[in-house]
Amino acid sequence: MERFNMDTLTVPHNFIPRDYQLDVFKELDSKRHLDERKALLVWPRQIGKDTSCFAYMCKEACQVSGNYFYIFPTAEEAKRALWTKVLEDGTKLLDMIPEPFIGRISNQEMSITISKDKLGVSSTIQVLGLDRNPNAIRGVTPMGVVLSEFAFSDVEAYRALLPALRRKGCWHIINSTPNGRNHFYNLFLGAKESPKWIVSFKQALYPDRPNYVHVHPQDYFEDQVKTGMTTWDDIEREYGCNFTVGMKGAYYADQIEQAYKEDRITDVIYNDVLTVDTFWDLGVDDSTAIWFRQKSGNKISFVDYYEDNGKNLQHYIKVLEAKGYNYGTHYLPHDARQRNIQSGMATADMFEDMLRQTQMSANVEVLDRLPVQDGINAVRSRFSRYHFDAGACLVGIKRLELYHRRYDKKRQVFIKEPVHDGSSHAADAIRMEAISEDITSADQFNSGRVSVISDYDLFA
Ligand SMILES: Nc1ncnc2c1ncn2[C@@H]1O[C@H](COP(=O)(O)OP(=O)(O)OP(=O)(O)O)[C@@H](O)[C@H]1O
Ligand SMILES: [Mg+2]
Repeated sequence: MERFNMDTLTVPHNFIPRDYQLDVFKELDSKRHLDERKALLVWPRQIGKDTSCFAYMCKEACQVSGNYFYIFPTAEEAKRALWTKVLEDGTKLLDMIPEPFIGRISNQEMSITISKDKLGVSSTIQVLGLDRNPNAIRGVTPMGVVLSEFAFSDVEAYRALLPALRRKGCWHIINSTPNGRNHFYNLFLGAKESPKWIVSFKQALYPDRPNYVHVHPQDYFEDQVKTGMTTWDDIEREYGCNFTVGMKGAYYADQIEQAYKEDRITDVIYNDVLTVDTFWDLGVDDSTAIWFRQKSGNKISFVDYYEDNGKNLQHYIKVLEAKGYNYGTHYLPHDARQRNIQSGMATADMFEDMLRQTQMSANVEVLDRLPVQDGINAVRSRFSRYHFDAGACLVGIKRLELYHRRYDKKRQVFIKEPVHDGSSHAADAIRMEAISEDITSADQFNSGRVSVISDYDLFA
């Protein structure tokens, strides 16, 4: 068996940081950030996000005893991008910790313990995916955390980690390529204004800009587009680190961008001589979203948006009353026909009864069920007629912008269904607006009355 000479072993083993990597890690170790060590890396693809962040974690784990977590959006990615990753020189990423320093290694759990006797520390590095272990950190006191590809992570699962990250003494690094103006973008906006964060923003597409890091020559990108392997949008987002290119797989990002450009998201658009129709995603005791719409000729104006969760029907009746609009019809999704287990009544009927006891219009219509993709296409096809009140609809617009389907990096395809998360209720509700009149039945839709070929479907 090979004998190691302990004096010549260094951690991370066989790793020499590149300039831009070293800049960040030096800052993290500087006295200036001793109290709060946190870094945000907006870095393009293939620049060494995981190689360098893992190297930093190995260095720390071999110096300071504690629990360390390296977290990806999914367990599958954790395995591929780190645990089994082979580097350009043929060595494995895990080889950064020399064998004699490893106490125990578990491929099943993707964890490594650093041997106590050799280094005088006792640390564990756990590599995981937020999809499978969203609560992994709960109850554990972490010493260091890396959140990799954060723009692709479920932001709710991240919220659950926050208390642990805020613990004094716990350093953390968040890295990602942009994925539209989502939670990673918001975090970046906040962090770059804060002296507490170390922010590094690099791109690999524009050699003439100061934050350029070379990853591929220009003709590589041109070839990729020419051969249909990717699109300029994807290259802009992944190598240009451009946040304004819509989220990968976003359904309405382009339409919203266009609406902003055409000044259709403006200040006050409520017209008090017109009635207001409402469109619902109704989750009694779950999340509910409501769009408030006025129509005049070809123009469709959303004057207001409301969402809440865990509330009963009576609550929403009060919300409608408080808003004080002159209502026309309230459009509910097909499941409002289902009977409530306790009352034995359909939600739509209960809703109508409650409205009758008020001064408001009790005109309730339940829409037919339609495949989600058909509804999405219907929304897209009429989006150029949509106007939004920028203030009252802000939350709803943000939600629509984030509505997306997940991209399976490994298979390079989009998952067919939209991701069900905080953004999907607003999107479900606005679909009711589109199907309330454009499509009265699935047959009509399939007969080609609305025909929009989705650019995303080309990849599916
Ligand atoms: N300091 C370094 N020394 C040697 N090689 C490096 C260094 N940093 C990165 N690399 C190499 O660059 C390649 C990409 O690294 P890595 O997978 O960590 O990048 P990434 O930004 O996480 O990529 P992706 O966007 O595909 O997830 C790897 O083969 C890695 O070996
Ligand atoms: Mg990576």
